[in-house]
Amino acid sequence: MKIQSVRGTHDIYGENILKFNQIKSSVSCLAKTNGFKELNTPIFEFSNLFSKPLGEQSDVVLKEMYTFEDRNKEYLTLRPEYTTPMIRAAITNNLLNDLPLKVFGIGPMFRRERPQKGRYRQFNQINFEIFGSNDFIVDVELIVLADQLLKKILPNCKIKLNLNSLGSKNNLLDYKKVLSKYFNQKKNHLSEISISRIESNPLRILDSKEEADKSVCASAPIINEFLDEESRKHFDDIKKSLDYLNIDYVENNKLVRGLDYYCKTVFEFKTTDLGTQDTLLGGGRYDGLIEVLGGPKIPGIGWAAGIERISMLMDLLEENSNIIHIAVLSERHKHYFLKLTKYLREKELSFYWNYKYNIKKSLSKANSSKAKILIIVGEKEENNNFYTVKNLISSEQFELQLEQITEFLNDKF
Ligand code: HAM
Repeated sequence: MKIQSVRGTHDIYGENILKFNQIKSSVSCLAKTNGFKELNTPIFEFSNLFSKPLGEQSDVVLKEMYTFEDRNKEYLTLRPEYTTPMIRAAITNNLLNDLPLKVFGIGPMFRRERPQKGRYRQFNQINFEIFGSNDFIVDVELIVLADQLLKKILPNCKIKLNLNSLGSKNNLLDYKKVLSKYFNQKKNHLSEISISRIESNPLRILDSKEEADKSVCASAPIINEFLDEESRKHFDDIKKSLDYLNIDYVENNKLVRGLDYYCKTVFEFKTTDLGTQDTLLGGGRYDGLIEVLGGPKIPGIGWAAGIERISMLMDLLEENSNIIHIAVLSERHKHYFLKLTKYLREKELSFYWNYKYNIKKSLSKANSSKAKILIIVGEKEENNNFYTVKNLISSEQFELQLEQITEFLNDKF
């Protein structure tokens, strides 16, 4: 029997794991400089954490959650997203006593979607959330953070920030009613899937990729006409700040997002370089959600980005690890070699050895891996208590005692 990986999952190795780690370290660095604390949650939760907040009629809840009955008859779900588990964790651990709370997390999510390029059943998300502030400045801060992260990791990519406001929950309710009425009138021109959503989830039709639906949506009423005074001002303030900061965006009045918990600001960073799965990062405000989950009546906002989608567009930054390769000339020098590696480890200098007592093979491996230094361990070296350190860039060679190696490397690299 040949065992295969599950459809929609993928193993991460080689260049991809390097890209993943580079993304993660950029995220951790950005989080640190912006005062976000890491918060990790389990990958499964009680199912009822997700169904209501994400929306009983959302695609994720209707058909994409991996839910199973545990032996004690409780229903558990592999997390399809990070926002609700983060809120749950903040409530469970009393983290909401000191507000605002700024948290971030990186980890796998699970959705039973139809797999295609950029769409997986297990994928990894970067997630940033701020709990406890209504101030529009927080929306701006999170958008700028997302913009800076994407620009840093994908400097050559065409990425556009799409921005919209859904207004308050009441504005949305009014809008949904009007939208259902409009789509009912145009029923004959809509795709079958969209007809089934007219009453249950009319917003989702605006997101449809079906050609027939797109032309009906083009003349559909837009949410912006339903915004109350406060929501309109909040949205205007955000746009003014982005203009002030020279951050490019398009106002996209069809942008509604796929999850039910959003209100006011919603945004997505999209690219034309990735095919149909073109959203790299998405998020928005979810005032009211924390209360629904049993927490205090405080607002919240955040975003998540897909690591797989980002890494597909990313060029590998030059790796600075394993600049040192070691060549051991014969088995007789194993102990002298071990002395060297113990020293390098103590100094936290990363090194590589190919387990072959053959200078030609060691040199060729060092060259193909773009190593900068080759340390040779042989008879002459052991008898005279030094190591031959060869600079592979300049071809210069030095005989150095163990303690001189760090100084030499610090000087040259
Ligand atoms: P989302 O738009 O469902 O939002 O997902 C965010 C990002 O995760 C997407 O833009 C995409 O890059 C990635 N993603 C989603 N599904 C897949 C998939 N099947 N395969 C690969 N990548 C995928 C959320 O999850 C919200 N929780 C974001 C948020 C945080 N809103 C407020 N705070």
